[in-house]
Amino acid sequence: MPLVREIDNGTPASKAEEMVELSIDGLAVTVPAGTSILRAAMHAGVQIPKLCATDMLDAFGSCRLCLVEVDGRSGTPASCTTPVAEGMVVSTQTPRLKRLRRGVMELYISDHPLDCLTCAANGDCELQDMAGAVGLREVRYGHEGISHLHQSKDGSNPYFTFDPAKCIVCSRCVRACEEVQGTFALTIQGRGFDSKVSSGIGESFFESECVSCGACVQACPTATLIEKSVVEIGQPEHSVVTTCAYCGVGCNFKAEMRGEELVRMVPFKDGKANRGHSCVKGRFAWGYAQHRERVLQPMIRTSIDQPWREVGWEEAIARVASEFHRIQEKYGKRSIGGITSSRCTNEETFLVQKLIRAGFGNNNVDTCARVCHSPTGYGLKTAFGTSAGTQDFDSVEQADVVLVIGANPTDGHPVFASRLKKRLRQGAKLIVVDPRRIDLVRTPHVEAAHHLPLRPGTNVAVLNALAHVIVTEGLVDEAFVRARCDWDDFSEWAAFIVEAQNSPEQVALVSGVPAEEIRAAARLYATGGNAAIYYGLGVTEHSQGSTTVMAIANLAMATGNLGRPGVGVNPLRGQNNVQGACDMGSFPHELPGYRHISDDATRGVFESLWGACLDSEPGLRIPNMLDAAVDGSFKGIYIQGEDILQSDPNTRHVAAGLAAMECVVVQDLFLNETATYAHVFLPGSTFLEKDGTFTNAERRINRVRRVMRPRSGYADWEITQEIAKAMGIAMSYAHPAEIMDEIARLTPSFAGVSYALLDELGSVQWPCNAAKPEGSPVMHVDGFMRGRGKFMITEYVPTDERTSGRFPLLLTTGRILSQYNVGAQTRRTENTVWHQEDRLEIHPHDAEQRGIRDGDWVKIASRTGATTLRATVTERVAPGVVYTTFHHPATQANVVTTEYSDWATNCPEYKVTAVQVSTSNGPTEWQEHYRDLADRRRRIGAAAAE
Ligand code: SF4
Ligand code: SF4
Ligand code: SF4
Ligand code: FES
Repeated sequence: MPLVREIDNGTPASKAEEMVELSIDGLAVTVPAGTSILRAAMHAGVQIPKLCATDMLDAFGSCRLCLVEVDGRSGTPASCTTPVAEGMVVSTQTPRLKRLRRGVMELYISDHPLDCLTCAANGDCELQDMAGAVGLREVRYGHEGISHLHQSKDGSNPYFTFDPAKCIVCSRCVRACEEVQGTFALTIQGRGFDSKVSSGIGESFFESECVSCGACVQACPTATLIEKSVVEIGQPEHSVVTTCAYCGVGCNFKAEMRGEELVRMVPFKDGKANRGHSCVKGRFAWGYAQHRERVLQPMIRTSIDQPWREVGWEEAIARVASEFHRIQEKYGKRSIGGITSSRCTNEETFLVQKLIRAGFGNNNVDTCARVCHSPTGYGLKTAFGTSAGTQDFDSVEQADVVLVIGANPTDGHPVFASRLKKRLRQGAKLIVVDPRRIDLVRTPHVEAAHHLPLRPGTNVAVLNALAHVIVTEGLVDEAFVRARCDWDDFSEWAAFIVEAQNSPEQVALVSGVPAEEIRAAARLYATGGNAAIYYGLGVTEHSQGSTTVMAIANLAMATGNLGRPGVGVNPLRGQNNVQGACDMGSFPHELPGYRHISDDATRGVFESLWGACLDSEPGLRIPNMLDAAVDGSFKGIYIQGEDILQSDPNTRHVAAGLAAMECVVVQDLFLNETATYAHVFLPGSTFLEKDGTFTNAERRINRVRRVMRPRSGYADWEITQEIAKAMGIAMSYAHPAEIMDEIARLTPSFAGVSYALLDELGSVQWPCNAAKPEGSPVMHVDGFMRGRGKFMITEYVPTDERTSGRFPLLLTTGRILSQYNVGAQTRRTENTVWHQEDRLEIHPHDAEQRGIRDGDWVKIASRTGATTLRATVTERVAPGVVYTTFHHPATQANVVTTEYSDWATNCPEYKVTAVQVSTSNGPTEWQEHYRDLADRRRRIGAAAAE
């Protein structure tokens, strides 16, 4: 179990290879060159007092507490800013040093409240510790005179307070905001005695640029910046390392506890994805776990117009089993199916697909990756032989050029964005390909070298144009291509890519991006050193999503940017375990490890271990299940932790499909939108209530550890197991570790994974097997997984969704920082203070033409449907493009999205919908109808809960 307070080595580790030997208080110590004396002393077991230094930040040297004496040098240098030198002899505890340190501490304490006994940081205060460490016994200056003790507190942030009376102006918070988070929201105002921390000119934290990442709170050595939860609950007494359940960055946290009560989540310094950093969601937005709307008792009803009836687990599980048996007997084996969750653990996902394949006897299993990253799976498997990103996040530290396409990392993947911004501040160059002027285009101390604001739907054209420049200007890394890729495929592709329709000049006509910008970006990508591509749903959620992924792979192969740190093709995965859900066989055509269900040998391995005969035919995808339901051949579904009614396209069609089924089983934390059509509701468990693993966007398998008992009685994997048993399928796992052992036995890329290994290494990136016993930070190092890299012809085919006189604007969708996906969790936290509603962003020119002012209600109509929301008039979007988020059910953004989808995977084309926008007085008829339904559902849920 980790210490509640992690060891702080004072300054960051040096990465130098050269070693230096020195003596500290008579102890010989050897450390890498460039290490500070402060850190070297820690290495030798000597703790030098310190206040302004911490190992998360570069040394600053302001507090003068860490003074040391060095033989042969005059004065008392600060050990945090003085690097070690060969043969150096250091003393840390001389009478002079003790006197000086006490003097420094006296000054601090004379301007600090002496309310230690009632202070929330009591027991976790470095000032208190240092007063003890330097042996402070008196404060000669007294507390009279001018001081900062009467300054008022700022409690405007929902999660932490700022009490300037307790501030020692060490500037750790300011530096954390700059160095770790990269937001630059804080400054030290004034000089000398008047200097103070400020979150903006006359602004509170809430009004400032602060994004509530918590880095300053973590860095603060006193109670000046402190979590409100610590103030309310008290200091934690133990901690458990676990993994954030929000996004695909996969940050590790210490869940700091008092008994079974969670006090705070603190980013874990040894977390390999986040390196001690966090965003507002993982750090603070965990209150949903205790939200009053959580359903904790199973519920059933015979039809969806009836009220729910609370029942015991046994009755609910029996109902699921008997209904699924009845339906299969009446309508056939393939009449039911299930959806796995990208929010649940690998082990839970594995069990759901096992239940469906081995228990239901069909392959009707799909997952929400269908609506986000299924083209990544298809595209990268085709090009490289495996369906995953190529790098670890550390890799960005060695990138010289970063191309971000169709992703908005500062909102969607904030901790990765902070790491990326740090690299950009060090001098790496940035290319952004996105219809919107996302924050990365220009943010403090970061400016993109090129922003290509393409028209939505023209990704493939622009990527082809970049490749065109690379091939026609002789920038191909021919040695790499000849050594690593299929030369015939390359030659065929090169002949295609040099065709005139792929030239920047032609592509400028369709994409709206000036040809010269495309040429300059291509040259930079190909010649700027290590070049890495990061992409998101703005790439995949298109009718040519898979083609775009392959076009990205072509670019990386053509320029030799694969197989080493600093380069690569990196999908920024959406949900916490979307990579894992795909790895675990959630697609209807693939067994765990991306092996086709029709492959007899692979199927045979599963059949012999599971003792079941598996269907060799791929099953139905989510949209096909819904179509079949409307047609009358698909009658029952088990949905674990997904809200397809809110997240999938064409809401009316989803509703019609669900309404046509005879047994809809929803397992979730809350009565979600999909539960409107459910017959059985099974209460789910949060990530705090179960053991398991999540796999992040780097293929990193992270442990999720139970810190409290499941509030409903069962973890999600146990519920699936109970359903299986009730249906007569043998399942008897005592712990998720046993499920992982089975995954390892059946999946070559997981063959070496076990909970013991994860406990030992902290986390591991697959493939992890005999060849790679400690996992694979970078893939395709010595060759591609498929053998030779495959160039694919990526012809640009415009989407069938076209603007017209009636629908002249293009709608694209995305996310914001404080909310997550359909908002089921974040809407039940204080995060709602930042985003109470979804807004439609519209360019001033388009707004003016329509008489729309900022804040007006507007109607947005497509060929599919219409919805209303309020407008934000902004130049972040280009003329002709409008943008919204979809975090609030009332927005009903998916009422307007179309049924167009990726040609290869059916991933919906969320990012391109032709629309018209006009002024409106309020909600549409469908929104009113939908709100009635939701209200009724809530009333029924509330009644049941009472
Ligand atoms: S708020 Fe905390 S971290 Fe910031 S200067 Fe004051 S004491 Fe230091
Ligand atoms: S919470 Fe994060 S963004 Fe806000 S001031 Fe602190 S470090 Fe900066
Ligand atoms: S970046 Fe993602 S994984 Fe990390 S804390 Fe934020 S939401 Fe959680
Ligand atoms: S810790 Fe070195 S000067 Fe503050």
